[in-house]
Amino acid sequence: MPSKTMEELVSLCKRRGFIFQSNDIYGGVKGLYDYGPMGVELKNNLKQSWWKSMIYERDDVEGLDATILTGPDVLKHSGHEDTFSDPLVDCKSCKSRWKADQLDNQSCPNCKSKDLTDPRPFNLMFKTSIGPVDDGSSFAYLRPETAQQIFTNFKNVLDSTNRTLPFGIAQIGKAFRNEITPRNFIFRVREFEQMEMEFFVEPGTQKEWLDYWRDRRMEWWQSFANDPSKFRYRTHEKDELAHYAEACYDIEYEYPWGFDELEGVASRTDYDLKKHAEHSGAKLSYFDQQKQDPDTGKNGWRYTPYGIEPAAGVTRGLLVYLLDAYHEETVPNADGEDSTRVVMKLHPRLAPIKVAVLPLVKKEGLPEIAREMVSGFFKAGINARYDEQHSIGKRYRRHDEAGTPYCITIDGQTTEDGTVTIRDRDTMEQERISKDEALQVVQKRLIES
Ligand code: GAP
Repeated sequence: MPSKTMEELVSLCKRRGFIFQSNDIYGGVKGLYDYGPMGVELKNNLKQSWWKSMIYERDDVEGLDATILTGPDVLKHSGHEDTFSDPLVDCKSCKSRWKADQLDNQSCPNCKSKDLTDPRPFNLMFKTSIGPVDDGSSFAYLRPETAQQIFTNFKNVLDSTNRTLPFGIAQIGKAFRNEITPRNFIFRVREFEQMEMEFFVEPGTQKEWLDYWRDRRMEWWQSFANDPSKFRYRTHEKDELAHYAEACYDIEYEYPWGFDELEGVASRTDYDLKKHAEHSGAKLSYFDQQKQDPDTGKNGWRYTPYGIEPAAGVTRGLLVYLLDAYHEETVPNADGEDSTRVVMKLHPRLAPIKVAVLPLVKKEGLPEIAREMVSGFFKAGINARYDEQHSIGKRYRRHDEAGTPYCITIDGQTTEDGTVTIRDRDTMEQERISKDEALQVVQKRLIES
C-alpha cells in the first residue's frame, strides 16, 4: 500500500465491517473483496443515488438489468475476444507475472531480474461452461463490462418504451476481469460492480453530448465529497482510446498514490450497434420521421445512433468516498487529555446508518424508550441502530468510525421532560430536542444535507 492513509483505511474497513478480504478464513483470494454490514449499506446507497440521478430525476433514461453470463457471440462481435487484453510479462527468475507497463526499467519489480519473457496479450475475460456437459462446446463469459447487453437490448427497450432519441439505457451490475495484478485494495479487483449508461444520440451531436455527460458526472461525484478539489478531468490520448471509442475523458481522483481513474466518459460512436446489427441480423437502427436523410434529401432518416457512455465503477467510487471521508482529529478525552478521533465524514445520504439511538444506561426504562424510537425511524424508512454496549464515549467513537451522522442519547432527563440529545458527527455538538420531534429533526437534516 502506497501510504499510511491507505493502511489505516484498510484496517478501519475491516474493524467496522465495511470491507473484508474474500475467502478470508482460508487465507484470502487476491483481487476479491466482500462487503460487510456497513459496506453493503454504503454500496447500496451509492447505487441508489446514481439510479435516482439517472432514472428518477430526468425523463430520458430507462433502466435495465441484464445477465452476467454472456454468450460468446456478443463478446466476439463487440471486439472483446480479440482486443480485451493486457500485455503480460513473466519473470523467468521468480516466476511472478506483470503487466508490461508495471516493469521497473525493464526489470522485474519483485526480484529485479532482467530475465523476462516478451510481452504477450493476455485476455482478461473469465470463461465458464453452460449446461451439464463441460466439453468446451457451450461456454459463456462473465461479462467484462455491463455495457454490451445494453447494446444488444437496444431494440427491445426502444420498441417497448417508444422512446425518441436522444435517450439512454442505464444499468448497474457486476463485471469481471482477470486482472494480471489486482492492486490498491478495492481500486483494481477481479470482481466489481459498474454503473453504466449508454446515451443514444443522433450522429453529428456526439461531441456536445460527450461534454454534457462529462460535466453532469463530475458534478454528481463532487456533490457527495468533502473535498471536490481532488477530482479532475483527463482527456485520453489517441493511442490509449479503447477500440470502440473516438474520444474519452477520465474523471480522475487524487488517491494516495496520485491521480488515477474513477470513471470514463466515452464517445463510442455507432461501433457496437453496427457490429451487433451486422452479425446478428437485428435492426439496431432508429428512424426519425422529422429529419431529412442527409444523403438523399428525402423526408425521414434511418441511422445507427451514436453512444455516449458514462461508465463508473461502484466499488471504485466507494474507495473514493471512503478516502474522502477518512479524518483523524485531535480532541480532548474524558480526562481532558489529547486523543485521536477517527471519523468517517461520509455524506449523510451515503452513510450506512443514519442515526444511532443510545440509552445512557441499561435501566430505568431508557432502553425501552430507545427501542421505540428506533422502530419509529424504521417505519419512516431511515436506517437506525440501537446501541447499548460500552460507555457512551466509546459508542460515539464507534459510530464516528462507521460514519453515522447523528447519535441520539436517551438519559435520565428524558423520563422527566421528554427531551433527548442529538449529537452531530462532524462538529460533535450536542443539542437537546424533544423526543417526539427527533424523527422530524433527523428527516430535515438528511434532506438538507
Ligand atoms: N464500458 C466501458 C468500460 O467498462 P472501463 O474504463 O474499462 O470502461 C469503467 O471501466 C469503470 O469501471 C472504470 O472507470 C472503473 O471505475 C471501473 N473498473 C474497471 N476495471 C476495474 C477493476 N478491475 N476493478 C475495479 N473497478 C474497475
